[in-house]
Amino acid sequence: TTIKTELKDEEIKPLLEKEYNSNIVKFITQKYFIYSNLDRYQNYYNKNPEKSVEEVITMVNVEADSEFYSNIKETNMSKGNLTLVNKVYKLPDDYQIEDLKPIPIQFAYQGHKITEEVLNHYVQMANAAKKEGLTLIVTSSYRDYDFQKTLYNNYVNKNGKKDADRFSARPRHSEHELGLALDIVTYNSNMENFDKTEEFQWLKNNCYKYGFILRYPEGKEEVTGYMYEPWHYRYVGVEYAKKIYDEGITFDEYYAYYLK
Ligand code: DAL
Ligand code: ZN
Repeated sequence: TTIKTELKDEEIKPLLEKEYNSNIVKFITQKYFIYSNLDRYQNYYNKNPEKSVEEVITMVNVEADSEFYSNIKETNMSKGNLTLVNKVYKLPDDYQIEDLKPIPIQFAYQGHKITEEVLNHYVQMANAAKKEGLTLIVTSSYRDYDFQKTLYNNYVNKNGKKDADRFSARPRHSEHELGLALDIVTYNSNMENFDKTEEFQWLKNNCYKYGFILRYPEGKEEVTGYMYEPWHYRYVGVEYAKKIYDEGITFDEYYAYYLK
């Protein structure tokens, strides 16, 4: 697909409509259009005519136009706090974090550890919530490869692979292994009903101020690969948490367009 640039503007449009496909114009005018994806947008749109142009752009940008886990790549670790881990991008095989700090027990169940930067921001956030009479409790933090593998395999045995994949990452594919994710709940709530709590409402509106984003929002399973997880918060740093929050898109989409 090449658009001949020597053509006059008024010549381009009819040419596209005639020789190729008028959908090109619809794609090009989308906010998150990426030129190198043009052929894939068209292929995906042809196979999924019920989808909107906007949805097609999203699905292709996050590489969800191929089946998840069918085309796995190693992620770019030089992105630091912005490193992407999902069903396409995995951690290097030798990745492991040694330097972890315990999370104080007033803000976590027993035995949780995370990196210092995430811990500092989490403690600030939990203290701010506390001032408003709200209690944040970490229920899952850093997990090493063996832990994630056991967890995932247990879910597969209990729920079957298809369902397990909707809520548990395969080993090397979890942000908990990356060391930048915390599962947060409150007392008297479990993970399933956490989004009915005041603590959740507060986190939803304020977590970006402390560098966190809600990583698996409601209604985005096709994009993120995961069911709604009101408890899972991803640390990206304060600057980018605000940008992503303001943009109102998933981290997968944000990464594809702005960070790749
Ligand atoms: N529950 C999230 C997707 C994980 O396993 O990392
Ligand atoms: Zn989680």
